[in-house]
Amino acid sequence: MKKLLIIAMMLLITTVAGAQGLKSIKLNEPNKNRGASVMKALNDRHSTREFSTKKLSLQDLSDLLWATNGINRPDGKRTAATARNNQDIDVYAIMEEGAYFYDAKKNELTPVAEGDYRALIADRQVSVQDAPVSLLIVSDISRFTGLDIETQKQWGALDAGIVSQNVMIFAAGCGLATVPRVYMNKDELKKVLKLTETQIPMINNPVGYKR
Ligand SMILES: Cc1cc2nc3c(=O)[nH]c(=O)nc-3n(C[C@H](O)[C@H](O)[C@H](O)COP(=O)(O)O)c2cc1C
Repeated sequence: MKKLLIIAMMLLITTVAGAQGLKSIKLNEPNKNRGASVMKALNDRHSTREFSTKKLSLQDLSDLLWATNGINRPDGKRTAATARNNQDIDVYAIMEEGAYFYDAKKNELTPVAEGDYRALIADRQVSVQDAPVSLLIVSDISRFTGLDIETQKQWGALDAGIVSQNVMIFAAGCGLATVPRVYMNKDELKKVLKLTETQIPMINNPVGYKR
């Protein structure tokens, strides 16, 4: 019992230490009146792999996250559909100062790990490392209860793709640049973000201003 308590305390210390110097980022209310028409956004959507290094304004960051997977109804449902409404998707924002969890209920970015982990997102595609924020879309497939693992993974990937498309349509409609990417250093990202076995990094979207 004593041993268990010590392990629990050590785990707690490591968790807190990982994001020690970072504060939560309170996001602005999303501006739901901005952007091009849906048809123009679809017309303009394309992948961009080169970015300005300029940081996103707080409003752009807030609007981006809400469009990506924010709450858009009083019952807590999201801008992105999920299979059976199992809400398996979590979004992490990987930025120069640290990695954050997007807490849609609180409308804030909660610190997870201090430090610049954008290179783990870029992996060998170094140009995307310039993007001030990379959104990592993770599916926790354990939220699909009562299904075999293959189905869980398939549904998780489908849900992640829908979230990634939200990023692309927001970027196209609001003049930002992005690309959906499967390449990344998944193993190291899982360690940094302290993901469990069932939390799978599915896809990432570096986002920034056009260069
Ligand atoms: C599931 C998926 C994974 C992708 N992974 C990468 C990637 O790792 N790196 C990359 O540069 N582009 C990636 N892309 C972008 C595609 O190369 C791009 O969408 C395709 O060339 C069509 O170009 P467009 O998006 O401008 O229409 C990916 C796209 C999808 C849908």
